[in-house]
Amino acid sequence: MLIRRETPADIDAIRTVTNLAFNDGPEAPLIDWLRADEGWIPELSLVEDTVLGHVVCTRGYVGDTPALGLGPIAVHPSHQRAGIGSALMHAVLGAAEARGEKAVILLGSPVYYSRFGFRLASEFGITPPDPAWAPHFQARLFGDVAPGGFRYAEPFDRL
Ligand SMILES: CC(C)(COP(=O)(O)OP(=O)(O)OC[C@H]1O[C@@H](n2cnc3c(N)ncnc32)[C@H](O)[C@@H]1OP(=O)(O)O)[C@@H](O)C(=O)NCCC(=O)NCCS
Repeated sequence: MLIRRETPADIDAIRTVTNLAFNDGPEAPLIDWLRADEGWIPELSLVEDTVLGHVVCTRGYVGDTPALGLGPIAVHPSHQRAGIGSALMHAVLGAAEARGEKAVILLGSPVYYSRFGFRLASEFGITPPDPAWAPHFQARLFGDVAPGGFRYAEPFDRL
């Protein structure tokens, strides 16, 4: 399986796979807003080579410390549970650590994301924008990060 950076030619296919995975939720428009935002990091928007899946991390902050918000991540419904999501996760986390990022934050199932080294963010004193998210709010740290509240790139506020 090949994982690579997105190119402009992938944008329509990313929209399609995201809409299929999230049943036409707000996630596909969010990716388009993020791509136009200052928090966009081109080397952290990755696709499976034929765009059966996509993941992106964008710039957020834990307090004043730059960190990454991971998501959306989507895999085509007819190709889920075949390892594409895991490959995307490993690739984006490796890329994040290699570029010196200190933390990756996400909202999702702890059962799924613990296998990628995520733990509840509360264990590190990192709090979500909405306290109700706490049971699903997770962090993978690559360095020391002072406790604080996490804020995603601005387009997440439009959801
Ligand atoms: C979540 C998602 C990206 C995973 O991609 P994938 O290619 O299916 O994942 P993988 O094949 O690498 O891993 C599959 C494993 O993850 C588990 N898994 C997948 N989604 C899960 C979830 N939401 N909660 C718990 N476990 C999950 C499966 O049980 C499977 O484990 P198993 O092989 O031990 O049974 C994909 O299922 C998806 O696009 N879902 C819809 C959109 C979504 O929910 N995105 C994440 C929002 S946080």
